[in-house]
Amino acid sequence: MIAIGSDHAGYELKKAVTAWLGENKIPYMEFGCMEGESCDYPQVAEEVCGRVLNGGADKAILICGTGIGISMAANKIKGIRAALCTDSYMAKYTRLHNDANVLCMGGRVIGAGVAEEIVDTFLHTDFEGGRHQRRVDMISAIESNN
Ligand code: RB5
Repeated sequence: MIAIGSDHAGYELKKAVTAWLGENKIPYMEFGCMEGESCDYPQVAEEVCGRVLNGGADKAILICGTGIGISMAANKIKGIRAALCTDSYMAKYTRLHNDANVLCMGGRVIGAGVAEEIVDTFLHTDFEGGRHQRRVDMISAIESNN
């Protein structure tokens, strides 16, 4: 189950991504801007990430204009590793090496075709573990120490 949310600037790309999820029979729950109305990306990030931490979503997708603000907000939440990706290489390696649980994209930065490739890669690449687990644990330690 995927939780997906956007603000107004990410709304069009969210529509394209939810259509793609539907076509690929990937279940999702949708949050944030539902009709193009203005909404605040930090609030969307908090609601969607909550679903990953204790609300039945395995991973999440967050979209704002640049992808930056919504990823900043998401990464303030303990247990969230949000990765802003602009291509599928980044999506592949953030899953392999960082065990990212939230994908962020910029609706004013990339088009639907690139976004679909990114989402496909993000959802279908497993964490490599090993030495990367130690580094992910170090990220968690920073959360606990600060
Ligand atoms: C909204 O205008 C815009 O600031 C927001 O979508 C995002 O790009 C922030 O980082």
